[in-house]
Amino acid sequence: MKIPVLTIDGPSGAGKGTVSRAVAKKMGWNYLDSGSIYRSLAIAVMKKKCDITDVDTVVNIAETMKLEFECGDELVVKLDGKDITSELPFETIGNTASIVAAYPKVRAVLLQKQQDFQQEPGLVADGRDMGTIVFPNALKKVYLTASAEERGKRRCNQLLEKGNDANLAEIIKEIEVRDRRDQERATAPLKKSDNALYIDSSDLSIEKVVEEVLNLVR
Ligand code: DC
Repeated sequence: MKIPVLTIDGPSGAGKGTVSRAVAKKMGWNYLDSGSIYRSLAIAVMKKKCDITDVDTVVNIAETMKLEFECGDELVVKLDGKDITSELPFETIGNTASIVAAYPKVRAVLLQKQQDFQQEPGLVADGRDMGTIVFPNALKKVYLTASAEERGKRRCNQLLEKGNDANLAEIIKEIEVRDRRDQERATAPLKKSDNALYIDSSDLSIEKVVEEVLNLVR
């Protein structure tokens, strides 16, 4: 029997990670945070102080970097044996990830790494192209979004809660720039799969979104 996959695609800050983890936990399924793979590559490139416009070097790093994922209550990611979990959430990392993710050769190298997550008894895969490219035959697909303003507010609150500075207008601008890059790239752009359930979480609680997604899968 084919191992079932639920894909949850959408822009950053729409709540994909929280919803995906909650659904995976309820279903007892595995979880793929594909953004963390692109973020890990961004960290690897930045640590090596490489020129991110040098595509061949970036591709070479993507081919040789060793990634390990430990999926407990929190996702732990190791890059070449070193725990990089705490470095992943920064916007500079997300932005660099979005730049290197636009290179078709990088996406080709990372495709199999993502497909390898399809393990028994099932998989919840979160990203931009999960339903369109990586798992086109997924059992169920969701496109989860929210207005840039609402996503900016959520991101701002997360930063303030952790004691960081945050400027809402700047954050919304960063979100819009990254959305545009992810949506307008030629290879595997962020877009809704034809057969995906569209959910706008702007006015919905996380619990309500999780309930809707669980209803779809069950
Ligand atoms: O979901 P995230 O914010 O962690 O993703 C960071 C960047 O990685 C995102 O802006 C674009 C890229 N990405 C991608 O191109 N394809 C995916 N499936 C996931 C992320």
